[in-house]
Amino acid sequence: MEKFVYEYPTKVYFGKEAVKEHLTEALAPYGSHILLAYGGGSIKRNGVYDEIMGILKEAGKTVTEFSGIMSNPTYAKVQEGAALARREKVDFILAVGGGSVFDCCKIVAAQACTDKDLWEMEMTHHLFPTQVIPMGAVVTASGTGAEMNGGAVITNEEKHIKTGLGAAAPRFAILDPEYTLSLPRAQVISGAFDTLSHAMETYFGRSDSDNVSDDVALAIMKNTVVNMRRLLTDIYDLTARSNLMWDSAMAENGILKVGRVTDFQAHQIEHQLGAYTDCNHGQGLAVIHPAYYRHIVKDAPEKFTRFAQVVFGCETAEEGIDALAAFIKECGLPVKLGELTSRTPITKELLRQVADSCNLIQTNPRPLSHDEVYEILTECL
Ligand code: NZQ
Ligand code: ZN
Repeated sequence: MEKFVYEYPTKVYFGKEAVKEHLTEALAPYGSHILLAYGGGSIKRNGVYDEIMGILKEAGKTVTEFSGIMSNPTYAKVQEGAALARREKVDFILAVGGGSVFDCCKIVAAQACTDKDLWEMEMTHHLFPTQVIPMGAVVTASGTGAEMNGGAVITNEEKHIKTGLGAAAPRFAILDPEYTLSLPRAQVISGAFDTLSHAMETYFGRSDSDNVSDDVALAIMKNTVVNMRRLLTDIYDLTARSNLMWDSAMAENGILKVGRVTDFQAHQIEHQLGAYTDCNHGQGLAVIHPAYYRHIVKDAPEKFTRFAQVVFGCETAEEGIDALAAFIKECGLPVKLGELTSRTPITKELLRQVADSCNLIQTNPRPLSHDEVYEILTECL
């Protein structure tokens, strides 16, 4: 194990009717003016909006709404939210949705407290926000684990970059698996694959020796695969949804990352692909992972063999990657770039731009070059 300091800032309320039981108590320490943030309107169709508004009204809160947060949230949307939060002098941001709503709100929370341009501040000057409006997260789409960390993935459309910015973690997260029941099937599965990806990306970070974090990561991967298979039989299986909801949180709450370095090269490739195509995050990862792993399997043979044996019950490192690819197919996830929903045709020229602008990780089994990222992407055509 490498040295680490671990502290956890997010209070978690998990389970059936958690919002009804705990939202008032969770908001009690904060001021009365709430910025209620959400996406394109699913919460209005599934009753979540009405339930939350009822609770906020009952608690005597003043509510300002910030809606229309899109998947793969943009920096322009962040600026819109920050201007609103500042103008209305809100005390607290209540983010209701999935990773996109949480990420947008994390940066809104920081941008609203400074006149400096947050992107420039972080990306150019490597300074991180010290002051934020406190926020809480109500999860309606699980998979990213974004409700349990201080990172936010934002798309800067002008610069053609989708990347992680640092902010503060939510003060609390409310996770009711029943809130996810109205999610479209494809999103349930792509979200769960994102969870699997987080655990794999953490596990495959270069490490000199195995440690407890490896074992925990393998357990999360195995549980995620088992419960995704249960959903293939019954997409409304609430036990499977519950397990996956906590797998998702566990994969990104920092626990798997203690005492080790991580990989996350597949995420860097997917994020840049997303910057150019606006593709679904989990689906993009599903296409990229097997191709990336075939490139690096020889650089971490023991880890890949252990992954193959523990997660998929096969023998060799290569068989493990084949099993992962077969599992992706079994789940009905895309296996080729052409199957992704993209706002623009995915050509070799576009992939060259994606590869050349992709962040290269130095803590994976073997650092890639931009040319090798391009090779990986073209193998996915
Ligand atoms: O916008 P609405 O109408 O709410 O619809 C959303 C959206 O279309 C819908 N949805 C959410 N809850 C629903 C529902 N539909 C019906 N019933 C419900 N209960 O689901 C769609 C997808 O939502 P989104 O938030 O975009 O999905 P996800 O949670 O997968 O988040 C993806 C974003 O998170 C980033 C990704 O890059 C992407 O931008 N990530 C954030 C991470 C983090 N901060 O830790 C880590 C991840 O690796 C990831 O990069
Ligand atoms: Zn992810």
